[in-house]
Formats: sequence, structure tokens, C-alpha cells
Amino acid sequence: MNATREAHGSAHWLFQGGVVIDGSGASRFRADVRVENGRISEIGADLGLRGATRIDASGRVVAPGFIDVHTHDDECVLSAPQMLSKISQGVTTVVVGNCGISLAPLVHSNVPPPLTLLGGSDKHVFPTMQAYAQAVDAARPAVNVAALVGHSTLRVATMADPYRAATRAEQAKMADLMREAMAAGATGLSTGLFYDTNAAADVAEVTMLARIAAEAGGVYTAHIRNEAEDVIASLDEAFTAARDAALPVVISHHKCAGPANWGRSVETLAHIDAARRAQPIGLDAYPYVAGSTILRPDLVDGIIEIMVTWSEPYPEMSGRSLADIAQEWQCSQREACERLQPGGASYFQMREDDVRRVLQYEATMIGSDGLPHDRHPHPRLWGTFPRVLGHYARELGLFTLEEAVRRMTSLSAHRFNLLDRGEIAVGKHADLVVFDPDFVIDRATYAQPTTPAAGIDSVMVSGSMTYHAQGPTGIRAGRFLRLGTRS
Ligand code: ZN
Ligand code: CU
Repeated sequence: MNATREAHGSAHWLFQGGVVIDGSGASRFRADVRVENGRISEIGADLGLRGATRIDASGRVVAPGFIDVHTHDDECVLSAPQMLSKISQGVTTVVVGNCGISLAPLVHSNVPPPLTLLGGSDKHVFPTMQAYAQAVDAARPAVNVAALVGHSTLRVATMADPYRAATRAEQAKMADLMREAMAAGATGLSTGLFYDTNAAADVAEVTMLARIAAEAGGVYTAHIRNEAEDVIASLDEAFTAARDAALPVVISHHKCAGPANWGRSVETLAHIDAARRAQPIGLDAYPYVAGSTILRPDLVDGIIEIMVTWSEPYPEMSGRSLADIAQEWQCSQREACERLQPGGASYFQMREDDVRRVLQYEATMIGSDGLPHDRHPHPRLWGTFPRVLGHYARELGLFTLEEAVRRMTSLSAHRFNLLDRGEIAVGKHADLVVFDPDFVIDRATYAQPTTPAAGIDSVMVSGSMTYHAQGPTGIRAGRFLRLGTRS
């Protein structure tokens, strides 16, 4: 790698001597890749330098930049625009606003959980999606940003009490906000019926909002009502809304949660497979057996291990196990959970065979679901993509490297309508990652969750070298990706 620091702003690049995995799932091939003015201009053997800045990719894979389809980076892209947790994994685009939780459109000085996952109770300052899009462009984050509109956000914006069913007038206000957001280029609707602020909404309300997303060509992502004993009925609820609204649905972080449901991914995937014959359905998943969200006593069963990721009243308990804390406090785990609130935790609620089965399923995209504001975050925030490449593809052989890359690039770009991204082809945006296929691996662990991954050499966003020689270059070229006008 011999690009100088001054050259990182170059408009003409040649990735030389590497092996291309183009994102389509096709087999790798040896080729140089030329980038001019932000786009891929030429792919072929032994391309001449012709004045380009040379990146030596020998012994390396050149792939499309990874798309993190499931994030909660809404606020992080503004306050920490270097986005090191993602760029160090080779991620070049994040989809924000998942699980019904988005920063916009909402102005509120004291939001209830789970909206607090976006960095605090006072972060919601954007009355419209247009205002948020402008803030993203002004912050110039290192990664591109596509934004979903969160259903909880809409309910908190329009209802004094979001824990009950909405009136017609309130639903009309939600529809207005949703329409503005889609006109401003939002990517679609997200729901999180699992959460209190969203749970009182019925399928008709979801369908009404999803229709507005559908009219603008958007997608619908669903953190379903129940991922445990009622997982099948909850999947069906999401399918029904998407079918009636006539748009694709993505089942978020698909899992079978809790010991009583371990092994049921055989059943849920068969169910999803059958439904896919009648409507477009995708999934996203992260490669870990623990989930992570706010502290919720109903998730404390006394069986699974739970690790505190943040606690407002007891910040010093971050990184400790709930069982230990309960023992120290001489109380039950549920009681300890109550006392630690507001806060978050990682819940070891899945089984490895289910995780593998879901990852392996052909419609599954990779999404980290990382929580960037947690004091002691789940390691998925820093490790998801290299872990799929290094652990699940290379070490375990769950799928080929080509297939692993497809699930983080073209499959995702297609499902979320990210035009001209997710593939190495002439004319596409030059979002690229160079990595070492024999060495790439996650280094973030539950104990040391913010350790950067190994084996990611260079990351380019829209033709700008953003990460090089295992470190950020200081150049940031991300934009707000408006649906429909993204080329
Ligand atoms: Zn979720
Ligand atoms: Cu999420």
C-alpha cells in the first residue's frame, strides 16, 4: 500500500493486482479496478496506471463496500461522523432508523425508552426528515446514510400517550409526517411492535403507514412483536401488513429467543420460505448468540446470562453480569434489572445452531444492530462483518466468501433500493473495501467490545479513500442517500 496521505483526495485510483469478489455471488477473479471521479470506470487485467494513484491489492480481495442494513447510528453519524466502528469493518453505507426507532421526525426533550437507544433522552431535534437529511449532509459522515422512519418515533411525535391505541386524528398526523419523510428521501418504514411505545398499534395502523412508504418505492422493516413463543404469529403479522401495503418486508434480526424456543429456526425458516412464494421478504441477522437492547425485566428469566451494557443510575455496572450484581445486592435478578433502569443489556438468548441456520438462509442479509451509545456495547457494533467473513465463512465454511460478500452488498443494495451500489461493475459508485481473505477476523469480544477488526486494509467511499493502512485517513465522503435519486 503506497498511497500517500496527500493522495487520499485523488480523483483517479487504480487497485492493482487484487482478486475481485464483485458482490453478485459470482466466483472471484483476478483484475485491476480503476476508479475515476467517484465511480468504477474500468475492470480488467493489467490496466495501466495512466496517472492514477496506485493501491497495491496483491494478495488481497477487492469487494464492494459493505452495507449495514440494520443500525441505530442515526445520531452517531452526526456526533461521531468518523464512524470508526463501521468503517474499520469495511462498511460504507448504514441503514439507520431500524426497530421503529428513528431520530427524525421528532422534536422532544425527554423521549421514553426505547428511543433512548439513540444516545439519550434529549437527542430528538429534527421536526422533519428533510431537516435530518440536511444535518447528515452537513456532518459529512464517513459512511453513506439511508434512513427509515420509525413507527415509535411517529407515535411519540403525535401522541401524548403512546402506550394506547391511536385516534384517527393522531393517525392522520402520523401519515402526514410519514409522507413528508418519504418525500424527503426516506428509505421506508420500520416498526418495533416488541416495544411499549409501538405495541398498542394494530396491523391496520402499520399497513396504513407502510402504504405511504410503498407509494414512494420504499421498504418495510419489522422488529416483530414477539421473537419467542409467538414468533410465527408475529411473522405473519408483518407479512400481512406488507402484503396489504404491497411492499417488500425485511424481518429484523431474525431469531428464536429464549431456551424454550431454541431449535425452532427450522420451523420459522420453513414458514418464511413458504410466505416468500407469495410476497418479497428479506431477513437481516448478526453473527452472535446474544441480542442487545434496553433493560427489560420481562427478558430476565433466571436462566440466560445477561450482561449490562449501560445504566444511568449505576454506570459502573456496565460490562458486569446481572446475576453477579443481583448477588452483590442480595436481590433477585429482576429486582436488580429494575434498579439499574434506565439502561441496556446483552441477553444470551439464542443458540448457535439457530444463528447458523438463519445466517445460512438465502434471503438473509447482514446487519449489525450495533448500539453505538452504549458504555460497554455488544461486540456486534465493531465485529459483525469481519466475523461473518473470517469466522463463519473461512473458519466454519458456512458459505463461500463470495456468498458472504453477497449478503453484505448486492442483496442488501437490491432490497433497500440503493441504486448503483453493492456491486463492482463499471459505472457503479466506488464504495470499495480491500481485505485480506486469510486474515480478516473480528477482534471485539464481550469483554473488550470496542477492539477494531483485523484484516481490513482500505475502505473507499464514493471514490474517496476513507480508511487506509488500518486507520482513518481523515477524509469523509458519506452522504444522505435519498430514495429514488441516489444515482
Ligand atoms: Zn430490533
Ligand atoms: Cu435494532
